[in-house]
Amino acid sequence: MATTTTNANALLVAITLALLMCSPRCIYSAERRLLVNMTLVRNAPALGAFCLDGSLPAYHLHRGFGAGARNWLLQFEGGGWCNDIESCLERAKSRRGSTRYMTKWEVFSGILSNNAYLNPDFYNWNRVKLRYCDGASFAGDAVFKNGTSLLYFRGQKIWEAIILDLLPKGLGQARKALLSGCSAGGLASFLHCNNFTKYLPSNASVKCLSDAGFFLDERDITSNHTMRYFIKDVVSLQYAWQGIEKNLDENCTASSLDFPELCFFPQYALKFITTPFFILNSAYDVYQFHHILVPSSADPHGHWNRCKLNPAACNPEQLNTLQEFRRDMIVAMGLFYKYSRRGGLFINSCFAHCQSESQDTWFSADSPRVHNKTIAEAVGDWYFSRRITKEIDCPYPCDTTCHNLIPSTQALVQDLRSY
Ligand SMILES: *[C@@H]1O[C@H](CO)[C@@H](O)[C@H](O)[C@H]1NC(C)=O
Ligand SMILES: *[C@@H]1O[C@H](CO)[C@@H](O)[C@H](O)[C@H]1NC(C)=O
Ligand SMILES: *[C@@H]1O[C@H](CO)[C@@H](O)[C@H](O)[C@H]1NC(C)=O
Ligand SMILES: *[C@@H]1O[C@H](CO)[C@@H](O)[C@H](O)[C@H]1NC(C)=O
Ligand SMILES: *[C@@H]1O[C@H](CO)[C@@H](O)[C@H](O)[C@H]1NC(C)=O
Ligand SMILES: *[C@@H]1O[C@H](CO)[C@@H](O)[C@H](O)[C@H]1NC(C)=O
Ligand SMILES: *[C@@H]1O[C@H](CO)[C@@H](O)[C@H](O)[C@H]1NC(C)=O
Repeated sequence: MATTTTNANALLVAITLALLMCSPRCIYSAERRLLVNMTLVRNAPALGAFCLDGSLPAYHLHRGFGAGARNWLLQFEGGGWCNDIESCLERAKSRRGSTRYMTKWEVFSGILSNNAYLNPDFYNWNRVKLRYCDGASFAGDAVFKNGTSLLYFRGQKIWEAIILDLLPKGLGQARKALLSGCSAGGLASFLHCNNFTKYLPSNASVKCLSDAGFFLDERDITSNHTMRYFIKDVVSLQYAWQGIEKNLDENCTASSLDFPELCFFPQYALKFITTPFFILNSAYDVYQFHHILVPSSADPHGHWNRCKLNPAACNPEQLNTLQEFRRDMIVAMGLFYKYSRRGGLFINSCFAHCQSESQDTWFSADSPRVHNKTIAEAVGDWYFSRRITKEIDCPYPCDTTCHNLIPSTQALVQDLRSY
């Protein structure tokens, strides 16, 4: 089909089924769900942009209207990383590595909603979801080929191909733009923020937001650098080209020549980002808690399992470890908090991971708040410069507005490659 994506490509579906299937709360907040059709990027092969398995990359676009018709919100999908040939081959056969296995219709909710009551500041913008299929936060650029297996590590090319596809659809004349993303997509937002700004008109208002993408360079409970080793593997597999880390900020890698892969971590890359940035994260991000601080390799006997599934079941020592993690995160953002004049921050104390994409946590009567501000209000206040927004919540368990979204028992055996 042609690459035109219009409102005809969007379908409003009344979720009568959901009313039958979900909790009573759900009935009161029953809303019509917006489903948006997938657009494959037809010109991607010319740029060498492919998903891990060689399939075409894709995005979902829902057009803006009215006063928002010339504003653009781009959101990177998340979903962990793969760090070796085996895990990337595995991923290439799934929705995380191939558009062939992805749902062709995506729910647009939270920050992507088109309803003014559910998303007061961005509902009428052009909203785009960039599908994640490269396994390295949209930033690798290499190919693996050995005669029997072929893998494309082309995240950086996918990023460029999607931008080039969107520019003539109106992105090139944007007045306002926000680059966003959650988890591995929130990390992509850090990695591509400066580059995004360069594609847009110089008089446009361009800003970036990362939701649950502030992955800390933190040691696990056995003092092992589990996360750092993992990231080093991802970077050397997907970014390395003749020993040079491409696609990480070159001013950052130049400043940390001994460990250039550290520039993958937002805490080191942040000071090189010149575009206004908003960091949304939980201080007890469950993904980081379960996979960076207490990966199963560091807790082989599962002493932490009860605490992982229910913070109220943590013993005092475990709680203390969690409070130290929170302090380390706040310290890692310290300079940004203090000195960034155009930056914004919302660090709440909920056991969650990704809070901008679901309506419940983004903006609803009982959604999480800090100083009585919802996440949607905090992000909107910052974007439109209505007031300075640097909110840091009090430590657990003081916050009674949390939606603790804790993965199930089954997820305890997963690792950094999951989600
Ligand atoms: C959705 O997109 C697919 C492929 O891009 C296309 O074949 C199909 O006609 C579209 N459906 C609607 C309802 O727009
Ligand atoms: C290519 O790599 C895959 C994954 O490591 C391996 O299973 C396969 O045997 C390799 N093929 C050759 C010809 O070395
Ligand atoms: C930016 O400049 C262009 C060309 O002068 C103009 O058409 C557009 O309205 C300006 N945009 C903003 C946001 O001021
Ligand atoms: C964005 O980054 C890519 C890769 O570094 C580069 O090739 C491209 O020129 C950049 N775009 C702009 C507009 O600077
Ligand atoms: C540290 O973590 C890495 C990656 O998970 C693992 O390979 C290594 O064996 C661990 N080292 C120790 C001493 O536990
Ligand atoms: C690196 O810093 C210099 C000087 O501040 C700047 O001109 C340049 O654009 C920066 N490079 C990148 C890739 O941001
Ligand atoms: C919190 O904000 C709501 C509106 O979002 C307002 O109705 C309420 O009075 C505020 N509560 C406090 C304690 O300020």
